[in-house]
This record gives sequence, C-alpha cells and structure tokens, in this order.
Amino acid sequence: MIQSLRGMNDMFAPDAERFEYFIETATTIAKRYGFTYFESPILEETALFKRSVGESSDIVGKEMYQFTDKGDNDVCLRPEGTAGVVRAFIQKKLDKQGGIHRFFYHGPMFRYERPQKGRLREFHQFGIESFGVASVVEDATLIMMLVDILDALGIGYKLEINSLGDHNCMPEYRNKLVSFLDCHDDKICEDCQRRKTTNPIRVLDCKNGNCQIIYAEAPKLIQNLCEACDSDFALLKQLLEESDIAYTVNTHLVRGLDYYSKTAFEFVSDEIGSQSAIAGGGRYDRLIEFLDGKETPAVGFAIGIERLLELIKMPTPKRNGYYIGTMDDEGLPIIMKAAQAKRKNEVVIVEYKSKNIKNHLKGADKVNARYCAVVGENERNDGTIWIKDLEAKTEETILLNTF
Ligand code: HAM
Repeated sequence: MIQSLRGMNDMFAPDAERFEYFIETATTIAKRYGFTYFESPILEETALFKRSVGESSDIVGKEMYQFTDKGDNDVCLRPEGTAGVVRAFIQKKLDKQGGIHRFFYHGPMFRYERPQKGRLREFHQFGIESFGVASVVEDATLIMMLVDILDALGIGYKLEINSLGDHNCMPEYRNKLVSFLDCHDDKICEDCQRRKTTNPIRVLDCKNGNCQIIYAEAPKLIQNLCEACDSDFALLKQLLEESDIAYTVNTHLVRGLDYYSKTAFEFVSDEIGSQSAIAGGGRYDRLIEFLDGKETPAVGFAIGIERLLELIKMPTPKRNGYYIGTMDDEGLPIIMKAAQAKRKNEVVIVEYKSKNIKNHLKGADKVNARYCAVVGENERNDGTIWIKDLEAKTEETILLNTF
C-alpha cells in the first residue's frame, strides 16, 4: 500500500476544520489591518533562497527539496514564504513604484527536517509581509495583529523580542562576538565553530547546553546597537507596553534565516512540546536590494499553522441549515429539486434513501442540521413539505413552492 511521505500529513476533520477556521480567522484580521491576499508559486529557482534565506542557514544548507527540472533549471520547493513575495514584489516593479504594499498569504512550505511532533517536512504557514514602512511602528502593528489572531483563537503565548541591529552597528558587534568566540574556541561545539566563520550571530541560539553556558557571558547585541536601532527598539517596547502586550527581551533570539535586521520576534507556546515556536518574524530592510530591487524597508511574520491546531478553541458548533429526506422513492425528484433551490442561501444535506420520520430526524440530528424537512405520500399529493425546527422544537407543513 502506498503511504504518504515521511513528515507529510493528510488532514481530515476535525484538524481540517480547525485549519479552515484558522485561515478564516487570520484572513479576517489581516484584512482589518489593510492587508490584501497574495499568491505565488510553490516552486522557485533555488538561487532565490540561497540569496535571501542565506547559504549558511540550516534551511538552505541542509533542508531544501532541491532538484533539476526537465529544462535543466535548479529549482526547489519553497522552504518559506518571504523570499517568493519579495521576488514577486520586485518582478512587478512595486519597489520602483514606491508607496506602501501590504500582503498576506498562506500555503505549504517544505523543509527536509527530521520529523517529530510539531516538526513536519510539509507544513503550512500564514504569513504577512509589509513593504515601504521604515518606522518601527509597523513592527508593533504586525505584533498587534499576531496577538489579535492568537487571542481570537483562544491561544496563549509568550512573546520574545530582540533587535539584530543594522548595517551600521551589526558589523562591529559581529567582530566583538568573533573575538569572544576566539577566546572560547576549544570549548564551543563544532557547529558553532563553523558558524563563527559563516554567520557568527547564529551561535547565540545554539541548542548545545555547554555552548549556552559560555554565551551567557557573550557581548549582547542590544548593548551594542547604534543610536537609531536603540531608539527604534525602545519605541517598539513602549508601543507594546502601552497596548498591554507582555514580552520578554531574548538577547539570544537571532532567527534561523539570514535576511533579518533590527526587530526580530518569536511567539512561543509552552503547551506543544519542544517545537514551541508558533510564529516568527522581523524586519528585513536589506533583502529587496539583495535580490536586485530598489532599497525598500520591509517587515513580516509567519505563523506555523500545524503547531497551532491543537491549541485552537473552536466555537461551539450551532445547528445549521437543512436536512431533506423522503419517505418513499417517488419523493426523491421532489426533494432534489427543493434542495437545489434552497442551496442558493442555505446549507442543505439530502438523504437519498427513503426512511420513516423517526430515522430522518435521527439523520438530521447527526449532521447537526437546524431543520429536518421531509416529503411523504401526503405531502407529495398536496404539493407540501413537512419541516421540523430542531432548535425551537416546532413543526409545520408548508407549500413546496414557498419552501
Ligand atoms: P520561520 O521562523 O522559519 O520564519 O517559520 C515560521 C513558523 O513556521 C515557525 O515559527 C513555526 O511555527 C513554523 N515552522 C517552521 N518550520 C516548521 C516545520 N518543519 N514544521 C512545522 N512548522 C514549522 C519564516 O519562515 C519567515 N519567512 C517568517 C517571516 C515572514 N519573516 C518575515 N516575514
């Protein structure tokens, strides 16, 4: 028997219903903030991710679903959404046009990771990307939107924030960090020794306990920010505080993708096991230029939908729509026609098998219908239909042409 690939899951109800509810909720909220829907291909040129997510990242280094297509192009399944949106933004010349452009998207992402609870090879993200606003106020707005989404779904979270500095202060900080690492070269893990040359700040979120003990003494990014980054970070904290959004500053939060500068943030949950990051994002003011576009400030985030599913508090399902049945086979064409008309405005489930009233009522209850409508011999002769309101517990017989 053919099985789905490891780390790639099918989704049935109730998970699929939660998934759908999540998309509806997040979409409504993103639109309230003035974001418009965006869609881009799942397959992109590999070079796009090498140049944006970064060759030193685990995602590009180890986790890409990369292959050569029949036209000899080096392509890969997207491991994340930001790079594709930025590629499209530049391709459509929105960078040259200027102004503010705000998008939301959702869809599958692919990372060849070791599957475990909360870590899949195909997973889904809901993402937001905002272009054209340099002010950190936009970063605060995005965090507020994420809070609104999680609150609407009844999901508890912890917010961690950090500032990664910019091209003015980051190089100097990086040098300080490398000097610190040089002094501890014999004690840090092999991965960190490699990171020291490829992308030193990535050592800070190393999962190795011994490394973390050493890095507790490492120079801190937020103590080495230039004036502009420092005041932006202070304003971000102030805006969050004034909106009653609790946060902690995690000086080791560096994110696993190389395109960030200034604000970086992650939402974590302590209810879902070791893969606790439910959303992450930050500012990437240099990425548009790196991909040959015109310099444009940008900030965004993505939510990992599968990690949220079990945390979503679904609203209590209400009885809804019609269940329509017949008591004999002659009634079937009548109820099919009635159902077709009713479906213009309502959910209608038709039971094709003839049954007595008691069994139709059971059927209506099973699909949680509000109304059970049945045509029997009498109704057929009179051109009527019998309807029971399962919520109000009332019943009536009405003319079919008023149904
Ligand atoms: P990311 O932190 O790599 O950021 O992914 C965002 C979220 O996707 C994570 O917080 C997590 O919930 C989920 N996720 C990541 N990998 C997996 C996996 N293997 N299985 C299940 N869920 C996973 C980004 O992708 C950036 N593009 C976010 C962004 C948008 N930054 C700016 N704009």
